[in-house]
This record gives sequence, C-alpha cells and structure tokens, in this order.
Amino acid sequence: SISSLKSVLSASGRVAFVPTMGNLHDGHLSLMRTARAHGDVVVSSIFVNRLQFGPNEDFDRYPRTFQDDCAKLESANVDHLFAPAETELYPQPQNFFIQPSPKYDAILEGACRPGHFTGVATVVAKLFNIVRPGAALFGKKDYQQLMILRNMVLELNMPIRVLGCGTIREPDGLALSSRNAYLDAEQRAEAPRLYAVLCEIVQRIGAGETCFE
Ligand code: PAF
Repeated sequence: SISSLKSVLSASGRVAFVPTMGNLHDGHLSLMRTARAHGDVVVSSIFVNRLQFGPNEDFDRYPRTFQDDCAKLESANVDHLFAPAETELYPQPQNFFIQPSPKYDAILEGACRPGHFTGVATVVAKLFNIVRPGAALFGKKDYQQLMILRNMVLELNMPIRVLGCGTIREPDGLALSSRNAYLDAEQRAEAPRLYAVLCEIVQRIGAGETCFE
C-alpha cells in the first residue's frame, strides 16, 4: 500500500525507480539492472493505468502476468515492488491532469492516441509523488513518452533525474514489447522490417544521401 511503501522508503536513501505496467520482459529487466547504479534502493511499480488507454484500446486484454513478474523482479534484485489497486491510486475520479502541450502531444503517437500522454504524465506524476525517487528510468523504445516525462520534470521543477535506456531487441531486430504478443505469425515475420528499414536509412544518411523518394 502507499503508506507501507512510504514507511519502508523513509529510511532507505536515494531511490531509483522503474515504473511499469507489468508483463515484464528483458527490456524492463535491463532498466532494473541499470537502476542499481543510480540509487541505494531500486523500486519498481506495476500498474496498468486505465487513464492512458483510449475507449477502444486494449485496457481489458492488456497482458497481466503478476506472479511471473514477481519472480522476475526477485531475480533482478529489485528491492521493493509497488503494485497498487486501482482504488488506491485513484480513490476518486481524477480531476487534475498533467497535460503536455500540443507541441509534444499532437504529433507521432500522440496524434493517433488522444489523451494517451496526459494519462501517462498524470500517473507518472502521481507515482513520483508517492515514491519520491532521485532517478527514474524509462526505455528509449517509447521515445515520445521519454521526452514528455523529461520535460514534465524540468518544467514542474521535480527533483528527479529522468534517464533513458537503450531498446532491447529480439535477435531479428524487433524491439521487445508486451504488445508483440498481439502479433499473428505473419505480422511477427513482417515486424522486424521496421527496424531493418530504420537502420538502412541511418546508413544512407551517414553516406550523405538526402533524398528518399
Ligand atoms: O511505459 C509504460 O509502461 C507506461 O506508460 C508507464 C510509464 C509505466 C506509465 O503507466
């Protein structure tokens, strides 16, 4: 619970924090391992945050694997897990929100998912207020999320270092993601092309190419 987490953290030094929605994979675990170097204790949270899912999105079917996750957190030496019930984190309907400016929110993923980044920023601000970390770690896989949270912390004067960690990939280049479980065999075979094309573009830009028609 919030109060038992606060009391256990009150005497434990600098906290490095890895917020997640569970269904942990090696990408998350690499964040936990990196966190070790940035605090005296590593705290992770598991909370599938309804506020960041649109009405027709996958909140209900989002993979929930709590027992497996706990075993992985133990093997990654995470000191404390915060996994609040929805009624504890949102005891009343949320009336106050952290809303990123359209400069950050109206582009890329934000353009297709109205309200998503407001939901992310709001829950992360709540978690930061509860956990009070000195550092918080997020994957570069969700780069727009990382930029938004970095700017939230800067502009709201939160005394937290937001650290971005490299994307962990399958051997064929596909970024690890809980939502990869939604891909059928054909889509799974197609998906690594995304990274392959991005790498090719990087190479061609490096070689001086400027036109990609
Ligand atoms: O990246 C995620 O898993 C989520 O967006 C986060 C940061 C845990 C907020 O719910």
